[in-house]
Amino acid sequence: MDRIRIRGGNRLNGSIPISGAKNAALPLMIVSLLTPGALTLSNVPRLADVRLLQRILQNHGIDITVAGKRAGQTGMGDVMHLSAKDIADTTAPYELVSRMRASFWVLGPLLARCGEAKVSLPGGCAIGTRPVDMHLMAMERLGAQITIENGYVIATAKQGLKGAHIVFDKVSVGATHAALMAAVLAQGDTIIENAASEPEIGDVAECLVKMGAKIEGIHTSALRIRGVTSLSGAEHSVIPDRIETGTYAMCAGMTGGDVLLKDANANHLGAVIDVMQRAGVTVDIKNDGLRIYRNGAALEPVRVDTEPFPGFPTDCQAQLMAMMTMANGTSMIRETIFENRFMHVQELARLGSDIHLYGDTAEVRGVKKLTGAPVMATDLRASVSLVIAGLAAAGETMISRVYHLDRGFETLEDKLSACGADVARISG
Ligand code: UD1
Repeated sequence: MDRIRIRGGNRLNGSIPISGAKNAALPLMIVSLLTPGALTLSNVPRLADVRLLQRILQNHGIDITVAGKRAGQTGMGDVMHLSAKDIADTTAPYELVSRMRASFWVLGPLLARCGEAKVSLPGGCAIGTRPVDMHLMAMERLGAQITIENGYVIATAKQGLKGAHIVFDKVSVGATHAALMAAVLAQGDTIIENAASEPEIGDVAECLVKMGAKIEGIHTSALRIRGVTSLSGAEHSVIPDRIETGTYAMCAGMTGGDVLLKDANANHLGAVIDVMQRAGVTVDIKNDGLRIYRNGAALEPVRVDTEPFPGFPTDCQAQLMAMMTMANGTSMIRETIFENRFMHVQELARLGSDIHLYGDTAEVRGVKKLTGAPVMATDLRASVSLVIAGLAAAGETMISRVYHLDRGFETLEDKLSACGADVARISG
């Protein structure tokens, strides 16, 4: 199994290209189930989660081809062609869904297109219980009959889905995707209230509109959808990854460097920019991305709660905590989205951090120095927090179980090395 070796202490200086967003690419790939036409996605990140979803969709009968960068084409990422002319199988089996939660999201499109779906419940997850009750409520509101048998959700809508008024009692990205993808092919009008307004939902909605869907209120928490009878193919480019952006911004903040995050979109960062600035890191919005630097100023402690967009994202909580381990004082970081998302704390302690947990809140007392150690990645975002700490720790940090990192960060070691970090992948 691969490991990542970091020899800390180098400042990051240079330019890092931001890849397409994993959390937009995955639902966009699933959108292809809604049309017999061809969907062409560009700027698709090369990630383990994307490859796994490819296999899951192929299992449903989607024809997928992937091409690399064309001559003269700027930007990174793959061009992916997806064609669901016929849906061969409406079952998403446990062996696949249990490996990636987002694959559960095929439920809505399969129901909308085929009137039936049998999708395995996703099961446990390292960062909390993560139920799917809101997904099922939305499908039932749209007229689906749902039973749960042998670990599978069995959903049918033989007469097709019907528009409905869906009010979520909390904000869920996945349930909003599910409701939106199902409602676009339902008969009549649907209103989704308290919808998640994360940029990835907006990206999916904009792609659906290109395919012929009728959606109002895109980028807000109230989506209004007028169902259509069919959707066509389209071409769409995946938005830049705001979590990758926040992560590299914190790498630069942690090491006191100066980096240009190429193609990053400041409008998608919400509270991250304000938190970085409060922490003493300068964020300059440029035409071609974001310049992040901290030249000489100390890292200042912050009080932050994770929140749905545009609040501070839970997916950047571990990275912020890593950066705050070396702040000039005590930070308070409260996790309000997932109940068990502090697994990085024990590993950060191995590098010499001083963090105390009080329920959903971490008290992070800044230390003057971190020292390298062998550590273990526990989940996607936790693992990259260890990279951030390792970049500033004296000596060598060796991170094992980096398959977690590969789920969501494209060529991380190359991007960091190009800016002067001493980071290498050790194979085997
Ligand atoms: C998505 C993101 C993930 C991010 C999370 C929150 C993808 C592929 N994943 O995950 O990276 O951390 O949003 O921004 O885009 N909940 C319920 N019932 C449900 C569904 C959710 O109670 O039916 C709860 C969850 O347990 C959690 C909260 O709602 O406490 C938010 O979860 P949700 O937004 O659904 O997360 P995901 O869509 O799984």
